[in-house]
Amino acid sequence: MIDSSAAWLALSSHQQSVGTLHLRNLFAQDPDRFRKFSLEACDLFLDYSKNLIVDDTLPLLLRLAEEAQLEARIAGMFDGEKINNTEQRPVLHVALRNRSNRAMFVDGKDVMPEVDAVLAQMRTYSEGIRSGAIKGSTGKSITDFVNIGIGGSDLGPLMVTEALEPYRSEHLRAHFVSNVDGAHLGAKLKTLDAQSTLFIVASKTFTTQETLTNARSAREWMVAKLGSEAAIAHHFAAASTNLKATHAFGIPNDRVFAFWDWVGGRYSLWSAIGLPIAIAVGMDRFEELLSGAHAMDEHFRTASLARNLPVILGLLGVWYGNFWNARCHAVLPYDQSMHRFTAYLQQLDMESNGKSVTRDGESLGFASGPIVWGEPGTNGQHAFYQHLHQGTTWTPADFIFPLATHYPMGEHHRMLMANCLAQTQALMQGKSADEVRSELIAQGLKGDALERLISHKVFPGNRPTNTIVLPKLTPRTFGALIALYEHKVFVQGSIWGVNSFDQWGVELGKQLANRILQDAQSGSVSEEHDCSTRGLLGKSMLQPPG
Ligand code: F6P
Repeated sequence: MIDSSAAWLALSSHQQSVGTLHLRNLFAQDPDRFRKFSLEACDLFLDYSKNLIVDDTLPLLLRLAEEAQLEARIAGMFDGEKINNTEQRPVLHVALRNRSNRAMFVDGKDVMPEVDAVLAQMRTYSEGIRSGAIKGSTGKSITDFVNIGIGGSDLGPLMVTEALEPYRSEHLRAHFVSNVDGAHLGAKLKTLDAQSTLFIVASKTFTTQETLTNARSAREWMVAKLGSEAAIAHHFAAASTNLKATHAFGIPNDRVFAFWDWVGGRYSLWSAIGLPIAIAVGMDRFEELLSGAHAMDEHFRTASLARNLPVILGLLGVWYGNFWNARCHAVLPYDQSMHRFTAYLQQLDMESNGKSVTRDGESLGFASGPIVWGEPGTNGQHAFYQHLHQGTTWTPADFIFPLATHYPMGEHHRMLMANCLAQTQALMQGKSADEVRSELIAQGLKGDALERLISHKVFPGNRPTNTIVLPKLTPRTFGALIALYEHKVFVQGSIWGVNSFDQWGVELGKQLANRILQDAQSGSVSEEHDCSTRGLLGKSMLQPPG
């Protein structure tokens, strides 16, 4: 396993030697740090100078990548090898955004003609909805569309549709329903007119309990409102790999947008699952998103490891998780339209690398994927940044900032920028007891009152951050940014030797929920359950659901 490699051992001893250094001093000693530890590709600029690294650190991390045969793993993904070994599938979301004329193969067959055919179908349909040429069953144009999906069939399209809000059509409202809690669909239905509403049922498997339950309820609502089963064909579309099931649901084939089992759920926004994005911002914009991601794919595939953005980000995460015991990673976009970005990354990262065994099933003797969390700045500053600055555990963080805004208004954007830079500066340099003392004296404090306050106002600093700057949040730059994180997660999984593309950890809860649901439906509590589950289930049975 990788933790017995020479590079791992060398990194462990390197950590001992740099563990006592302070970022503030490293910056003071080396005015060239920003130039040395920054990198630009695909319009994204990464400043990684505020990390706990010295000149020797990256070469050691790159040795680790070599020992993990990272380059071969990257090539294996692009070549369509079955790197998702527990499901015996290739992992080819990169084919969905392959804007070159290069063929990409699954089992010896070029998948690009099929990919392009679905993109063409998405173009025709999304343009028809946007122009009003495709109408509802009573002849009204579509004004509202509701994506019904969950996990990757929700988070990706929702997050992108929100982020690209400035590009959205004003006469089409986008809605997303995911939770099986009837409050999600129920509250939404109250606001909709059935005659001008389209439901898109998005499910890779078309078996997911939440999605099918919401879709069936939406169907019943539609039939009740429009008084005919025939209306369903006009008001439902689907994105799925399970064409039998979409047919059985009653969705006509020309409104079913296919994709393939080599697209992982959390990597599917580039496929037909992206239909809501195409309807919201137009197919040209959707294709720009694909182009941005493709540019990042090409960078990832061809740049040397030392000049490779996803590789550098991935290795820095390994550095903190495995050699500094950091357990979390925060992603803090200074862009309100990216407010669902971190939620999306939680699935991307935690479903991919929240694993305890290697590809071959051996127990990992070290930490794998971190807990990912975060919220946009500046809101987060007034909520959890206290912990980032003075908490007893520390969290490496990515700050993301677009240089230009879609909403130039007074001083807003300059203030946003100043806050973003100030936070990374504060986390890096901190504030010493001497500095606090001088400040308090200047404010006129003295004696006990002064001494009592000092330790409360000290900031340890030395807390590492990356800053990712984009020129402006456009479909293209955003596509590149999302792909950057996808590949970063793959880099880390490759170093740890885990399969980043299965998700067996979600299965047990699904199985047990079905058993408990059967009990709740039959009204009898099975003795098979533990006493806590029996007690709680018994309580829920005493309460009528409505
Ligand atoms: O949560 C498990 C999961 O399988 C995710 O990986 C997936 O994105 C989600 O459920 C939804 O699955 P589907 O698209 O098949 O409905």
